[in-house]
Amino acid sequence: MKITVIGTGYVGLVTGACLSEMGNHVVCLDVDARKIEILNAGGIPIHEPGLQELVRRNAAAGRLEFTTDIPRAVAHGTLQFIAVGTPPDEDGSADLQYVTAAARNIGRLMTDHKVIVDKSTVPVGTADKVRAAVADELARRGVDLAFSVASNPEFLKEGAAVEDFMRPDRIIIGTDDERATLLLRALYAPFVRNHDRLLVMDVKSAEFSKYAANAMLATRISFMNELSRLAEALGADIEQVRVGIGSDPRIGTHFLYAGAGYGGSCFPKDVKALARTAAEAGLPSKMMAAVEAVNEEQKLVLVRKIVAQYGEDLSGKTFALWGLAFKPNTDDMREAPSRVIVAELLRRGATLQAYDPVAADEARRVIALDLGDEKPETRDRLRFVSSATAALAQADALVIVTEWKEFRTPDFEALAQALADRRIFDGRNLYNPALVRGFGLDYRSIGRS
Ligand code: NAD
Ligand code: UDX
Repeated sequence: MKITVIGTGYVGLVTGACLSEMGNHVVCLDVDARKIEILNAGGIPIHEPGLQELVRRNAAAGRLEFTTDIPRAVAHGTLQFIAVGTPPDEDGSADLQYVTAAARNIGRLMTDHKVIVDKSTVPVGTADKVRAAVADELARRGVDLAFSVASNPEFLKEGAAVEDFMRPDRIIIGTDDERATLLLRALYAPFVRNHDRLLVMDVKSAEFSKYAANAMLATRISFMNELSRLAEALGADIEQVRVGIGSDPRIGTHFLYAGAGYGGSCFPKDVKALARTAAEAGLPSKMMAAVEAVNEEQKLVLVRKIVAQYGEDLSGKTFALWGLAFKPNTDDMREAPSRVIVAELLRRGATLQAYDPVAADEARRVIALDLGDEKPETRDRLRFVSSATAALAQADALVIVTEWKEFRTPDFEALAQALADRRIFDGRNLYNPALVRGFGLDYRSIGRS
């Protein structure tokens, strides 16, 4: 099939690459010329396991192309996927300006029937807005062309995006249109060969399912984070509690990890957007407000532990920071808890030596923006180093923010020697407390005393 993907970010690029892998001819469009240049030069602009090989292979086969040429992209695809960003507006609602711009481009330039597929995470009712924008552009041109609009929300996780797309738990298609249903069923058939995991529903339910899924997952995490505070106060161990409840199939083992708070490009903004939608519908969500409030507090949990130990004034203290990305296996720094932790520790006078296996460049960029108003002497107390060991040099204590695999089994003896205060603040519960303490280290983790 001929496919156009509009927006070549985390979702658009993975979608384009995976669809081309199944033999489709895909053109990926972006307005960011730098991204397209990198892709046309054989690179990829993000870190995502397995994606580079997939892109290279399919680009070499001529099935995957990258362009900034809007007329060419609109002319190419029978199916036009919209995978542009939907960041939060000032009031928390999803900003649909990029979705609308993409829809208008299609309406302005299309000359044959198009199936327009909303893959971006968009509020209920957006398909109607896309339909209206396309119809408006066609009317301006005085052209009468039929088109379909479908919803196909994406459920991939960063760091496992290719795997999630190639072997999805489910694919949701929201459509009220026979032609769109047939085309999308055919397109996705190779991805659901062994199990019928393709769910066709009405458009609004499909749009809503995406927010419902992310809100449910974020709720689990905030609930566990709240329980972890209580566990700590009561002398229970949240890791044992997690196993104790997760073995109940009604609860399940996934997404029950207490930590330094959830981040990323989806949960924070989707929780806010759902709260906004609920308020607009006259049904304010107490749950979403609580999920968000707990998460905001949780991003400060490591800072609170550090302050409890050393006091508010951290000048003269040096901390090694392991992990900056919002989760492992990605270089995405959007809403990463590390950004809050870095700002709060610097503000209290600490010196930081930060290491992340892949997110350092992106972290340098976004943290520079975060600290834009700070004095140079504050900003200069943050140094990025190129290894986990280098971060420990002359450090008083270690702070673990992201659970990269390379942090999982460190040389504890070397840690005890390197850290002046022999102390670890672990925001991801990577180690067995008894084991670490056996090396003479003071070990503070989440929800465990
Ligand atoms: P992103 O910021 O990585 O990529 C969006 C891209 O769209 C950018 O490269 C931008 O330049 C481009 N763009 C903007 N306007 C355009 C236009 N008019 N024409 C062409 N390109 C345009 O965003 P993302 O993380 O890929 O997210 C995209 C959507 O998918 C969002 O709605 C998000 O909520 C949703 N989503 C994201 C994830 C994820 O893990 N990142 C997972 C599921 C769903
Ligand atoms: C999420 C959804 O999982 C995915 O289905 C959707 O398409 C996009 O949003 P993503 O943001 O890439 O994916 O990562 P995810 O693995 O969900 O983690 C999100 C955040 O929650 C991370 O900061 C992670 O550290 C945190 N998390 C996750 C926890 O704190 N505890 C957990 O048990 C799981």
